[in-house]
Amino acid sequence: MCGITGYIGKREAVRVVVDQLRRLEYRGYDSAGVAARVDGRIDVVKSEGKIARLAMMVDGAFPEARVALAHTRWATHGRPSTPNAHPHGDCSGQFVIAHNGIIENYLELREQLSERGHRFQSETDTEVLPHLVEERFRGCVETALREALREVRGSYAVVMVSSHAPDALFAARQDSPLVIGLGEGEQFIASDIPAVLPYTRRVIVLEDGDLAVLRENEVRITRLDGSPVQRPILEVTWDAAAAEKGGYAHFMRKEIDDQPAAIRDTMRGRITAEGAVDPRILGMSAERIRALNRIYLVACGTAYHAGLVAKHFWERRLGIPVEADLASEFRYRDPAIDENTLVVLISQSGETADTRAALRAARAGGAATLGIVNVVGSTLSREAEHVFHTQAGPEICVASTKAYVSQLIGVYLLGLALMRQRERITAAEEAAIVADLARLPEQVQAVLANEDAIVRIAERFAGCRDFFFLGRGLDYCVAMEGALKLKEISYIHSEALAAGEMKHGTLALVTQDVCTLCLATQARLQEKMISNVKEVKARDATVISLVRAGDTETPKVSDYVIELPATRDELMPVLAIVPLQLLAYHLARILEREIDQPRNLAKSVTVE
Ligand code: M6R
Repeated sequence: MCGITGYIGKREAVRVVVDQLRRLEYRGYDSAGVAARVDGRIDVVKSEGKIARLAMMVDGAFPEARVALAHTRWATHGRPSTPNAHPHGDCSGQFVIAHNGIIENYLELREQLSERGHRFQSETDTEVLPHLVEERFRGCVETALREALREVRGSYAVVMVSSHAPDALFAARQDSPLVIGLGEGEQFIASDIPAVLPYTRRVIVLEDGDLAVLRENEVRITRLDGSPVQRPILEVTWDAAAAEKGGYAHFMRKEIDDQPAAIRDTMRGRITAEGAVDPRILGMSAERIRALNRIYLVACGTAYHAGLVAKHFWERRLGIPVEADLASEFRYRDPAIDENTLVVLISQSGETADTRAALRAARAGGAATLGIVNVVGSTLSREAEHVFHTQAGPEICVASTKAYVSQLIGVYLLGLALMRQRERITAAEEAAIVADLARLPEQVQAVLANEDAIVRIAERFAGCRDFFFLGRGLDYCVAMEGALKLKEISYIHSEALAAGEMKHGTLALVTQDVCTLCLATQARLQEKMISNVKEVKARDATVISLVRAGDTETPKVSDYVIELPATRDELMPVLAIVPLQLLAYHLARILEREIDQPRNLAKSVTVE
């Protein structure tokens, strides 16, 4: 998500941290800030917008500073603005922190701190941290930070400077990356390796639960309980371009691997201690939710495919019509809307022209509007009446992967909240689904571990010119996303079909030159799907089947099988899309396509 840099040594610290920050610019951000230790105090400069603006503001301002940190923020809690930009300080300005991640219990901590007289300057979750350190400080900064961190729940990479520790920089990590760059008489710290590479190739990667104190000639790492720990020094051999991608050849491949974290982050802070979805994620009153008589999910491309999954998951239990609609169609077709309609707009960027127009149409019709948006502060997230942010972090590859998976998680969480409010699900059923959702990151990891098998399939079919993706129910929704992924980055013709529709026309195209991806992950539709697999097999097509663990029947009629861990049918889309993303990626790689920026496509489609 956001970027952090820090420096201690003999150089002009502010110049170094701003230069380091530029190396993280590719990740996307909305504001930036710097903190430097000058004459025994900590000075902070922050600005909305580009790093270049911040660089002008601090140019030559603190030549004497030898300890500094900097941050680029990508908003999650609180809109993009200068007060919300990092770093954040305590009441006295003696402890200043930059933070990546999410402090889940910040609301209760903020309330308690406010009652004890602390004053807050921002809407961020981060700001509770320096105030906690201030409270815990009894003469040792390291101990105060340690104690403060023990009070927070959530994920963090934090770097802190303090006027009480002139010769030190403090850092800690939990579920958010942080690396230390080792120099001669100087140390660097950053959330990502590219930021330290111009200065050093010797790095230490901090582990979850580590707290580090950096001094010019020393790096000391302890665990949160204070026990000392040694971490290996690694020599980074990647070039700068590869380092931006964390050593991956393409952003897409990295973002596919980011998905377990994206799922966790999207769930973070949204589940109550009782294992229920926090109903506040809907932002709507219980009365308004109960009055709803129709729901539309409106979006484009991949986001529309997430809307289709929502339709299936929501409609079965909500007992009112739920429609998924393409924004480019919805905006011109005068849909039936009134004040008891909910229109859900799904968009990674929050800037897609058709989706924005659909939002305007929904509002004009008097409907309640809810955005499922990844980019905080984007047009949709500002203009929709209620917003659920997906917290997948910036997605750079044009082809959407982790944003889609986090949209699915959003759809499940919001759906459960709607069902509870409308009394269409019991607390026990809800808790069981939430528990299954919490297992998904591990299961996605298991699918990723099977990449070699997918590479072999890609090598075998790289010459194939037509791919059909077949599925029923939720598998059909995933088939559409799999086919889009493939055509988008490999330029191979691919289309998705509801498996039951094949014999109504498309079967005429099936020959031995066609490769069919048959999605058979839905236990309740398994027999029907097997019949459809047999139909295409009988026309000599090659069949690659995606099956759930324990399915022994579908493999018998398939040429190749990709087995997925099993979860309830409704959640299988999260697992089923991953091998299809990998297959698209490896086919495109073998065909030497421009994977991250496919021809004719843009990341954000801001025109109609
Ligand atoms: O930013 P959005 O989610 O609104 O974008 C919608 C589509 O343009 C987008 O999902 C597109 O289909 C992706 N490139 C597919 O990978």
